Amino acid sequence: MQPAPIDADKLKMFSFVLYSQLAGAVTAGMVHLGDKLGLYRTLAGALTPMTSAELAEACGLHERWVREWAGNQVAARLVEADHGDPYRPRFALSPEARAVLADDAHPAFGMGMFHRLPVTMERLNDLPTCFATGRGFDYDAHGHDGAVGIERSFEPWSNANLVPVVLPAVEGVLDAMRRGIEVADIGCGAGSAICTMAESFPESRFTGYDISRHALAIARTKAVARGLGNVRFVDPRDEAIAEDHRYGFITTFDCIHDMTHPREMISIIRRSLATDGVWLLVDIKALDTLEGNVTKNPMAALMYGISVMSCMASALSEEGGEGLGTLGLPAKTAESYARDAGFRSFRQLNIEHSVNAFYEIRP
Ligand SMILES: C[S@@+](CC[C@H](N)C(=O)[O-])C[C@H]1O[C@@H](n2cnc3c(N)ncnc32)[C@H](O)[C@@H]1O
Repeated sequence: MQPAPIDADKLKMFSFVLYSQLAGAVTAGMVHLGDKLGLYRTLAGALTPMTSAELAEACGLHERWVREWAGNQVAARLVEADHGDPYRPRFALSPEARAVLADDAHPAFGMGMFHRLPVTMERLNDLPTCFATGRGFDYDAHGHDGAVGIERSFEPWSNANLVPVVLPAVEGVLDAMRRGIEVADIGCGAGSAICTMAESFPESRFTGYDISRHALAIARTKAVARGLGNVRFVDPRDEAIAEDHRYGFITTFDCIHDMTHPREMISIIRRSLATDGVWLLVDIKALDTLEGNVTKNPMAALMYGISVMSCMASALSEEGGEGLGTLGLPAKTAESYARDAGFRSFRQLNIEHSVNAFYEIRP
């Protein structure tokens, strides 16, 4: 059969779509630099729009490089330009850009994934081997900066919403933590969520489990810096998660889909949870099919790509890994895994989040 002839307009459009992806990738690198070099924070703190010379001087950088960077940022519609003097434009951030690019206390702060962009992209060198062997790599393959990037991705939303919004939605958990229970956060990363809970509920005792030594090191430093005596951090390969129904509350934030053996972990959670305890499962909102995800989720391309470089790579980092990946735990799958492990109650919580779904699961 003859291939269909090439349509000149469609050819142009296809090339445009392709190069738009490259523009996004290159701009993402420039966003990483804007965050790392303090360019966004300086623009955010300025009282009036700045020329490239003023911005460079304030950041201790060379003007020519800053001017070219700013050109990318204006073209990408991330930084605003006042072209009153066309040869000396002035640059500024809108209030929304300030929140996302420069305010790490704002729940919409978005620099985490850009922080870890170079270490994430570096894995492209390993991926041809992964595709050939089937074997991935865990989160520590992304080094210290990988763990900091994850921390910076999740902490702002969690600081703003975990205690006032999420925990009150889980029936009875606030009272139980005020009375004093054992709590575990499995896949705790750099400890953002568990430190916030430990600070808010001094009567309870908290254990964070993770297999990333980089993340655990950051978590331990954070707990010491915040003077928290009721939280400890453990690598479950050194000290197994106690399967003696000791925990009144277990949380897993964005990590079950990263695990090599999610069903095994869910069974461990079932056996370590008290009979009147509750598991809060937070994972990525996903649909069951590729078609569903690509038509309903505008971030699907980003998510499948991040899965290859990070989530699915982690979920295939051991022999026999299940390889769920970023979009691999939709509600139906989560519920069937939970029921298979002996949980009898599964309820999706009504919590607004751009990428996550929240489930209250009980024995
Ligand atoms: C996307 S990060 C989320 C971290 C943290 N929950 C947060 O919200 O910031 C996924 C985490 O799961 C951890 N992880 C993967 N497999 C694990 C396992 N079997 N046991 C414990 N942690 C695991 C990774 O090391 C990584 O820190």
